[in-house]
Amino acid sequence: MKQLNRFLLFILLVLPAYGHAQDKLAPVDLKNHIWFKNSIIYNLEVGVFKDSDGDGRGDFQGLIEKLDYIRALGVDIIWLAPFQPSPGKDDGYDVADFYGVDEKLGTSGDFAEFVFQAQKRGIRVIIDLVINHTSDQHSWFQQARKSKDSKYRDWYIWSDKLPKDYNNGMVFPGVQKAVWDMDTLAGQYYYHRFYPFQPDLNFANPAVVEESQKIIGYWLGQGVSGFRLDAVPFIIEIPKTGSEKPKLDYKFLMDIRQFAQTRRADVVILGEANVVPEENQNYFGKNGEGMQMMFNFFANQYLFYALATGNIDPFKKAISETQIIPDASQWAHFLRNHDEVDLGRLSDKQRQEVYAKFGPDTSMQLYDRGIRRRLATMLGNNRKHMELAYSLLFSLPGTPVIRYGDELGMGDDLRLKERISVRTPMQWTAEKNAGFTTADTAFRPVIDFGDHGYKKINVEDQTRDSASLLNWTTALIKLRKSCPEIGLGTYRILDAGSAAVFAIQYEHEGKSLVVLHNFSDRPTQSRINIPGNKLLVDLIDEDDQKASDGKYSIKLDGYGYKWFRIK
Ligand code: NOJ
Repeated sequence: MKQLNRFLLFILLVLPAYGHAQDKLAPVDLKNHIWFKNSIIYNLEVGVFKDSDGDGRGDFQGLIEKLDYIRALGVDIIWLAPFQPSPGKDDGYDVADFYGVDEKLGTSGDFAEFVFQAQKRGIRVIIDLVINHTSDQHSWFQQARKSKDSKYRDWYIWSDKLPKDYNNGMVFPGVQKAVWDMDTLAGQYYYHRFYPFQPDLNFANPAVVEESQKIIGYWLGQGVSGFRLDAVPFIIEIPKTGSEKPKLDYKFLMDIRQFAQTRRADVVILGEANVVPEENQNYFGKNGEGMQMMFNFFANQYLFYALATGNIDPFKKAISETQIIPDASQWAHFLRNHDEVDLGRLSDKQRQEVYAKFGPDTSMQLYDRGIRRRLATMLGNNRKHMELAYSLLFSLPGTPVIRYGDELGMGDDLRLKERISVRTPMQWTAEKNAGFTTADTAFRPVIDFGDHGYKKINVEDQTRDSASLLNWTTALIKLRKSCPEIGLGTYRILDAGSAAVFAIQYEHEGKSLVVLHNFSDRPTQSRINIPGNKLLVDLIDEDDQKASDGKYSIKLDGYGYKWFRIK
């Protein structure tokens, strides 16, 4: 009897704790979960995609209606911008409840249905995870400011005195005045890396770390496949008043990855971290045990420099400098996203050159570092230049991410403030309000002017036109999918014998691919060396290339591009 009691006690007390510990310590199986390496990611905001109920704002039901469109494009992963309840002062990146769905966009039931319908079409869903800060309207902050005794007080970062570096490190310079502001109710200054209505959470507090895991666990439980982790360097910084360069807690990243993977083995975390190459390993983890993917912001800035000037040397260097990452890790490449094109790492001279070409008017520039325009407007609606940019994106070493509407060549509305200029409603048809809503007024104006207005640029027309950008992009995605070498293989940048040509060769499991892009608007002759005198089979045109002594002489049009499989 005594023994039985002891046994029962063991079951009751020890096993649950053991199970919990096991949850947290389960080893991460890195090699089996690299499914995302050849995926196509499509980024969208529910509120501007498709309105189903005529209230002027997009919603989950509308998005469900358009899933077949997204699938036909060849998309594998939808990345959803924040859709949780929010005052909307930073377009949803000011979350007021991490466990809900904004009622303006639908219900939790609609969200579940959306995930199901996406999965049914073979599309996975990843969502923005915005845990660096909350909205100041979040009940945690509201309780925290009311009393020093609140359990939430220490969930945020406070200071009695105004720190001397209170106006250092603002993420939105020109718009934001400080990173410390007085909360009159709390009687203390609080820290906010972003806008004043986005107080930073205090990740030095274990309760906050635990809560962030609950959020991850919750959404994985709702069927999402992973997260785009917002503002990573700021989550892991350990703010100290008066210190210019805060320390970073990289272990946090390994911990949340491990936590997430115990809940869903094939989870993927895609980090938003604009860092220099020397930092990459800290984020990916030495053996890939950190975030699986990171946006390659570093290369992106030099890519825009190359597109603007035709000088590709800094871009080639950036691709080389970001080449060495763990086998299980992956870059995510992109052209445009929902923010400004961030050119903060270019030299002043380089940035001015990009401004001169892509954002000459100050109304096009933002935060002293970037351009708040869409790709098509920056490239002057030049189809050849757009094709060059897209063909390059889909052939860069990593997973391509596209922004809704860029497949059509949608434009921007500079009358809208800050980054909202590139977040206008999707243009579905030439009917009123672009077929986005049946309401008389969309909650955010559709673009109805100029070359990018919905009468000229919309899904319906482009679907019918075999030569449209939409159909061209769809074909390009298909091409990328037939080239697994890109996402999985090894690569080397080739000497292309022409200053404007970027040539890259991939190899994977006996397959090999070489891709060339001419950044100049003039035709050029490129010369590459590939030993073995093999035939280069042109994957787009009938322009196969034979070698003489391992040398190939390949003619490229202005802004021309070529994809060859090496036979
Ligand atoms: C990065 C997001 O991309 C941006 O849109 C947002 O304003 C900030 N993080 C704050 O969450």
